Formats: sequence, structure tokens, C-alpha cells
Amino acid sequence: VSSGPHAARFTQQPGVYLLNHSVGLPPINAAEYAEQNFFETWREQAEPWRGWIDAITTFKTALAELFAAHPNEFCPQTNLSSALTKILSAMPKRSGRNKIVLTEQDFPSMGFVVQQAGQDYELVFIPRDADLLDMNVWNEYLSRDVACALITHAYSNTGVQPPVTEITARTRELEIISIIDVAQSAGVVPIDLDQWRADVVLGSCVKWLCGGPGAGYLWLSPEASDHFQPTDVGWFSHADPFEFDIHNFRYAEDASRFWGGTPSILPYVVATNGIALINEIGVANIRQHNIALTEQIANSIDDTALKTPRTPTQRGGTLVLHFGDNQEKLIAKLNEAEVRFDSRAFGIRLSPHIYNSSAEIDTVVSVLTA
Ligand SMILES: Cc1ncc(COP(=O)(O)O)c(C=O)c1O
Repeated sequence: VSSGPHAARFTQQPGVYLLNHSVGLPPINAAEYAEQNFFETWREQAEPWRGWIDAITTFKTALAELFAAHPNEFCPQTNLSSALTKILSAMPKRSGRNKIVLTEQDFPSMGFVVQQAGQDYELVFIPRDADLLDMNVWNEYLSRDVACALITHAYSNTGVQPPVTEITARTRELEIISIIDVAQSAGVVPIDLDQWRADVVLGSCVKWLCGGPGAGYLWLSPEASDHFQPTDVGWFSHADPFEFDIHNFRYAEDASRFWGGTPSILPYVVATNGIALINEIGVANIRQHNIALTEQIANSIDDTALKTPRTPTQRGGTLVLHFGDNQEKLIAKLNEAEVRFDSRAFGIRLSPHIYNSSAEIDTVVSVLTA
């Protein structure tokens, strides 16, 4: 079981749990928090919607603290794919801008969305083997005929963390709409939205935020909100949801225009508790611990096996390792040692969180270097 600095505040899993790029462990009080903030409201309030809408405000406030932004700049979304679908169809059409730039390293689901919802555009993929740390690569693809660019803050297969602040400086210069995917970085890499000055940020709570599935979100820059006109709307997208005049739809001024009809509540209540715990521990502390533990592994491994950049600031929270012909043997040994990890296109993915300890990582290192 986990024995890291804050292990007691999270539900335990047997073995060395390093699957935080996939699902973060639930906080120890997850069920109790949901009981108090969702079921109790439902059972005991004559008008539970008041309490439930307050719960969504609490969710947005927790996100605002996490990303140094304003609560009204966030809108709940089921997941990133759905949010991206809505963003692409809501995006202003601008003459002479007929391209969408993304990379072959983006999460496939995001690529599926761009192919289906971006059919009015020419899709330009930065190839799989391009060095996404290199601004020259991005500069080659970003030009004045590009409508929007999808930029992933931490790529799931390689762990690479591209220079988002530099990329968004360039997209702003070229008036390209920037859409940042923070699914793999939120909760493990500190993010300051003021620094990026992106147009749109898409995320979820299921991984490092320990908030469970179903609680995605989008962040919309206040300057950009007015330009986006979603077609997937509902009364919660209305400037005044309780006006109830069927002939008078007016977009909410802020990100809520992307909300839709009667919202789901429970997943966001569960997620709020996760985000609050991560905020309390502090993403900077989590990052420092994550780097210490990933360095412990990286320092015991040679360059050919390390598929993630060796420089910690160039990677997200995950290390990706491939040992060539020894790969299958090492996978079997890690499984035998009860290390929880997965294996993707580029190799074994290992993602230590604040509940993991250096002693647990010793176990991993001893398997990998035996
Ligand atoms: C980089 C990245 N983007 C997006 C997602 C998930 O997208 P969705 O919320 O649509 O399932 C993942 C999940 O692993 C991811 O790693």
C-alpha cells in the first residue's frame, strides 16, 4: 500500500499504485462528502436545486483556485471530447482561415473529434516523430491561415510537456484560437492561466485531481467568450435561465453559454472534494514530490530506455520506459512485484503521486535494474 507524505488522506490500493495518468485514487472521505453535499441536499431540501447549483459554484471556485482564474470562466462538461466538439462548432468562421493544427501525439479521442466536428476545415497533423519541445516545429505549422490549434500540455504517450507559454504567445500573434488540453497535467503540473493567455482550456478531474470520471470542464477566456456561439445549448446556457421566454434565447456572457440543459451534479460534487484536497496539499508540492520520485527512476536508467525527456521541466507527471527486447520480461517482473502501471505505444507508463513514497519507488528501481 502507499506510504507517501499524504497517503492517509487517500483510499489505499494494494501494491505500488503508479496509474495516476489514468485514474487518481479517491480521497478517503469521497463517499462521505458526496453523501453530505448531494444526497443530503436531495433528501432534506424542498428545493434541492439551490444546494446543487451552489455545489457547481463550489466546483468552479475550486477550479479557479487550482488554475489562478475566475470561477465564471469555467463551465462543467462531461469530458474533453464533448467539450471540444462544442468548441469547434461554436468557433467563429473567419475568412482565409481554413486549417486546424493538431499533432499525432494528441489523445486519439481529441483527434476523432477534430476529424468529425472540424469537417469544414483542413486538418494539419504535426507528425508523430516531430520534436514538440522545439518551437521551430510549432512555428513551421502555425500560420495566418490556421483557425485554431490544439495543444496538449502533457502528451499521454510520451510524457512530453511542450512550451505552452511560448506557443500561445505565437498563436496570439497570429490570431489563432488556442485550445489547451490539460487532462494529463491538471493536479501535477502547476498551471497559471494568466501566463498562458490561451483562448480555451479543456480538462477533466479523473487523473491527478483524484476527482473521478464525469466531471470535465472548459475554461473560456473572458475576451474570447463573446466570439463563441455554441449550438448545443439549453436553459443553463441562457443569460437568465429563469426567464422562460421560448422566443428569447440569449447567450450567457461567460463560459456558462456552453452548459446546456438540466446539468448533472453528482460527478462534480465528487470531483470538488478531490480538487479541494489537491489545492490544500498544493500542486507545487505535488510536483516537487513527483519530480523527486520520477528522478529516482530516471537516474537509474540509461537514455535508450527513457522515452520521456530527461529534463523534468520538459515532462508532465509520467515517465515512459522501453527496454527493447527486455520489455516483456520487465513487464512480467513489475507485475510480480505488484507495481500498478500500464503499457502504451511508447512503453511502460509510471506516474507517482503525493501518496507514493521513495521506498515504493525503490521497489520499482530494483525490478528495473536487477
Ligand atoms: C491528453 C488527454 N486528453 C484527453 C483525454 C481524455 O479525453 P476524454 O475526457 O474525452 O475522454 C485523455 C485521457 O487519457 C488524455 O490523456
